[in-house]
Parts: sequence; C-alpha cells; structure tokens
Amino acid sequence: MIDLYQEELLDHYKNPRNFGTLSNPDIEFSDTNPLCGDEVKVTAKIINGKIQEIKFDSRGCAISVAAASKLSELLKNKSLSEIKKMDNKEVLELLGVPISPMRLKCALLSLRALQKGIYQNLGE
Ligand code: FES
Repeated sequence: MIDLYQEELLDHYKNPRNFGTLSNPDIEFSDTNPLCGDEVKVTAKIINGKIQEIKFDSRGCAISVAAASKLSELLKNKSLSEIKKMDNKEVLELLGVPISPMRLKCALLSLRALQKGIYQNLGE
C-alpha cells in the first residue's frame, strides 16, 4: 500500500518543482552519483547571502529527483550559512520515508551538489 508520504514523493518525481537551470546563476555545480552514474546540476541566485532562486536539473531515480524537488522548495530564502550546516538528518526528515543505506547517496546528491557549489563558486 502506498502511504501519503510515498504518494507525495512520487508526485515530486513525476512533476519536479523548480526543474531546469537558471541563466546567469551565482552558483552552478554538477555532481554525479558514482554508484549509478545519475546526475544533478544545481543553479542558484543569491541575494544578501540568501537563496533567491534555485533550480535543479536532475536525472536519477525517484528518490534523487524527489529529494531535489523537495529541497528546491525548502531552500528558497534560506541563508547560505544555514544550508552549509544541513545534513543527512534534515534531508531524510524532508523525504519522510525510510531510506536504505544504498539509497542514501541518491537522497543526498542534490544537497551535496549545492553545498559543494557554495564552496567552489563563492569560496565559502
Ligand atoms: Fe542513481 Fe538513485 S539510483 S541517484
């Protein structure tokens, strides 16, 4: 039986929010999951140290796409310092379904890409 959380995740997978790439972003970073070869590219615009706009272009399994979609909604207006502190626990809570260790990398791919992009593009 599919519960509400699973249904919501499936919806994010089928209709990912904030999907695509922004033009002239302040942050742009691509990352892959070496275990399966799936990819995510994150672009974001920053104003006053906060995410003003963010898009993910993700190609992967349901968990990785749904995580990127849900994160894109959560991260708007978050400060970069808050984002840098985010960890596995927050992403797992956001997804709301049990994630096996094999799938943990899928769930974290988009957050890690953004955190690496903040570091690489802004030196923070
Ligand atoms: Fe590739 Fe999940 S199996 S991102």
